[in-house]
Amino acid sequence: MRKQIAAANWKMNLSYAEGEKLIDELLAAGISLADHQQVVLAVPFPYLTMARDRVAGQKNYSVAAQNCSQHESGAYTGDTSAAMLASIRVPYCVIGHSERREYFHESNEELARKTDRSFAHSITPIFCCGEPLEIREAGTQNDYVAQQLSESLFHLSAEQLTQLVIAYEPIWAIGTGKTASTEQAQEMHAHLRAVLAKQYGAAIADQVPILYGGSVKAGNAAELFASPDVDGGLVGGASLVAADFAAIIRALK
Ligand code: PGA
Repeated sequence: MRKQIAAANWKMNLSYAEGEKLIDELLAAGISLADHQQVVLAVPFPYLTMARDRVAGQKNYSVAAQNCSQHESGAYTGDTSAAMLASIRVPYCVIGHSERREYFHESNEELARKTDRSFAHSITPIFCCGEPLEIREAGTQNDYVAQQLSESLFHLSAEQLTQLVIAYEPIWAIGTGKTASTEQAQEMHAHLRAVLAKQYGAAIADQVPILYGGSVKAGNAAELFASPDVDGGLVGGASLVAADFAAIIRALK
């Protein structure tokens, strides 16, 4: 079975002590993961080593950075490189979250470079894509996300693609309480997989976990994750409450 992933995206929330407490509460739920299941906590940079150490020894629990630089190193004040993340043994990095695209003007080309920097340091990118409301209303979301994939990912080798995780996050569903319907999510995930299959072949596309993000909650996770092409979720708000995120983990296939 394809990897099924519950990824928490804390964004810019919680103090260090609150972060410690949240992880402890989550682990106290005692959820043991099957071989094909994975929990990934995307925490703020200053908390990465703390989170890494807290989940160490818990099978298939790990951490992610929320971003990395497109550059290898140098005079980029305030930025964090993939090499630095690798040096503190961070295995995943979220790339191209819609908030980065919108507020920091990250382009598809820049995200291609960030993806390359991550792979260069053996960090698994969790590559985000998704359309804004006006694109959904115009009915052109399939082409829009296909272009995000082709411009940022299609230079990758087939081998690299099998290491990638994709998160589909319709922008109109993020933090709005408005979730895509199960049908909308499955339809888009199947489309994304078809786009990958056209470029890399079905056998490769079949291996790529595609997570859904956008107002995933304890109450809707099981229904969303039940769809054949939805391989878990990237969860913002609900990941800040241990009991809610624990329920979301339990909803993984
Ligand atoms: P949300 O955020 O779950 O709060 O909608 C999801 C995300 O932005 O990753």
